[in-house]
Amino acid sequence: MARLPLDVRLEADGKAVVRVKGMTRRAIIRSAPVIDLSRKRSRGEAPVVYFDGALSPELRRLGEGKTYLIYTWGCQMNMHDAETMAGILELMGFRPTEVEEEADVILLNTCAIRENAEDKVFGELGRLKTLKAEKPGLVLGLAGCMAQEEGVVARILAEYPHVDLVFGTHNIHRLPVLLRDALLGKEMVVEVWNMEGEIVERLPKRRQGGLKAWVNISYGCDEFCTYCIVPYTRGKERSRPPEEILAEIRDLARQGYKEVTLLGQNVNAYGKDFQTRRYTFADLLRDVRRIDIPWVRFTTSHPRDFDADTIEALALGGNLVEHVHLPVQSGSDRILKRMNRKYTRAGYLELVRALRDRIPGVSLTTDLIVGFPGETEADFEATLSLVEEVGYDAAFTFIYSPREGTPAAKMPDDTPLSVKKARLAALNERIARIAYEKQKTLVGKTLEVLVEGPSKKDPGVLTARTRTNKIVHLAGGQELVGRFVRARITQARTWTLYGEVVDQKAPALV
Ligand code: SAH
Ligand code: SF4
Ligand code: F3S
Repeated sequence: MARLPLDVRLEADGKAVVRVKGMTRRAIIRSAPVIDLSRKRSRGEAPVVYFDGALSPELRRLGEGKTYLIYTWGCQMNMHDAETMAGILELMGFRPTEVEEEADVILLNTCAIRENAEDKVFGELGRLKTLKAEKPGLVLGLAGCMAQEEGVVARILAEYPHVDLVFGTHNIHRLPVLLRDALLGKEMVVEVWNMEGEIVERLPKRRQGGLKAWVNISYGCDEFCTYCIVPYTRGKERSRPPEEILAEIRDLARQGYKEVTLLGQNVNAYGKDFQTRRYTFADLLRDVRRIDIPWVRFTTSHPRDFDADTIEALALGGNLVEHVHLPVQSGSDRILKRMNRKYTRAGYLELVRALRDRIPGVSLTTDLIVGFPGETEADFEATLSLVEEVGYDAAFTFIYSPREGTPAAKMPDDTPLSVKKARLAALNERIARIAYEKQKTLVGKTLEVLVEGPSKKDPGVLTARTRTNKIVHLAGGQELVGRFVRARITQARTWTLYGEVVDQKAPALV
């Protein structure tokens, strides 16, 4: 997308006239994203503020008798942000609905990681134009990572004037005020912060499901991998105070949650920004391990920051399950360097060996990009051979997508898309073959699983997961949902296992 700097003129009434793509729009622009500012990093530890639940009576009543619907794309962090948005909306009196035509507020909580993620959102915005025309009172909002992009906000102003509200990832807590302004005014309200503000603790959350919960441990990312937009859309790396994280997990345990996933763009960098204390990701894992919550997962790990102390903490086991998602991106040192990943193939393989050595049976999954600018056939072969050497349990694979404003977007890229597609297919085929071999070794074994609910495809069958995050389909009644059982694996497919319940009283775990 071409870069479209906003030409904004403030009117006497405080509203703005925006000239974009030769058109004039009136809007309330409190702040709009500027890529050069989102690249900047402030110094020091992020200040923390505590939301006390107090909303003015006006804001608290704003949603009475009204409903909301949130569509979310992207990573688990973004899914969890949607739970915060839902929590705030419910505090304002809004109730959830799944029927689009009934909703008074529709928020699109978006992802900017690849172009196809963005295309879907623009498609949705186009589709919702009809609904908005039929129901002018509807508030249509754009949130999430796309809202943090300069070019996206310009395009929304120019081409999607039926959008009522645009806000970003740094000011979700401002939703009540922004929504009020969007509900009461005629103009589009835009408030996107270029830089992260304080860490806002204790915001209300409406979590999806009562078994598994996400818990943020850090926000933002300072890695600046050359292909990636996240450091721009999510800002500087900021770690939540450990007391807050531990209190949240204890509370989830009390509520009966069975599993928490600790979330950060790079969980292994947790605590590096603290200035007044020394407390690392390994310290956090050891403290979480003492909480009476059955299973603890975490994502995502950056290989560079995965230290020996963290491996030792994980090796303690207990509620810390045997699964590490360890994105490698490429098997070629040349490409890793151009990606600014700051580790080598040999270093990565060393880490894999250390993990396997200290955590028997650990399951390893990864992310891989094919067709990075300048990737040769030899580079791609190196990725294939690394995949073979590690033997992943599963992997997410992507064709490189240039992101405006990132260094890689300026690198010459002469590999045709057809070649990239062929590489992706070959890689997927290799990954699937290895994954299937691994799955087959589990047949006949008895594993502890958490029963999550009826299978999506066949409601007569239950879906469960192993500690290593593998899906197991089981026959059994609803009464098993939310329970740990022992299951004997009877059959393996590439991405699913089939099993039978052998013991309904799984061992106490912690
Ligand atoms: N912080 C996490 C998640 C990043 S996004 C991490 O570092 O792993 C998830 C994955 O999307 C990345 O691991 C990478 O494989 C992929 N990805 C990121 N930017 C991309 C781009 N521009 N094109 C294609 N894939 C990309
Ligand atoms: Fe993006 Fe790299 Fe940060 Fe992951 S570690 S979010 S890939 S910049
Ligand atoms: Fe997408 Fe933003 Fe997550 S770009 S992957 S939603 S951090």
